[in-house]
Amino acid sequence: MKFYIATDHAGYALKEFTKNYVRELGHEIIDLGPDNADRVDYPDFAKKCAEAVVADEGSFGILICGTGIGISISANKVKGIRAGLCHDAYTASATRAHNDANILCFGERVVGKGVVESMIDAFCSTEFEGGRHSGRVAKIEGCSLGANLG
Ligand code: RB5
Repeated sequence: MKFYIATDHAGYALKEFTKNYVRELGHEIIDLGPDNADRVDYPDFAKKCAEAVVADEGSFGILICGTGIGISISANKVKGIRAGLCHDAYTASATRAHNDANILCFGERVVGKGVVESMIDAFCSTEFEGGRHSGRVAKIEGCSLGANLG
């Protein structure tokens, strides 16, 4: 799998650990910043990563901020992005299986390194289930277009 990763200052300390773990599993990961722990605005880095994922078909993203909340809200504003805020292996697996998530988000102030590893394992080993979930995922795009969802 190919990943893009970005954080804000509050997720920066987990970035190297996460990159190394993803590489250990044999995946590719491209770092979109920041390059140091100076204060930055999470929407800027969410946008960078989300746009890279949309432009590179079949790729995935990892976004980390303090809680994972601001960076996931921001990424989900980009058309074509389904960013799942996860807290454990269950949510990381479910967001692939049910939501066809293309970005995994989490909070450095929320999860430890062991949980990060288990979320990445789950995210990477779970396929989108399709079936009844396909129509729901299609309706997600409808939400951003303001369509009448019936
Ligand atoms: C930064 O202090 C913090 O607000 C940010 O990382 C994130 O948790 C926002 O949702």
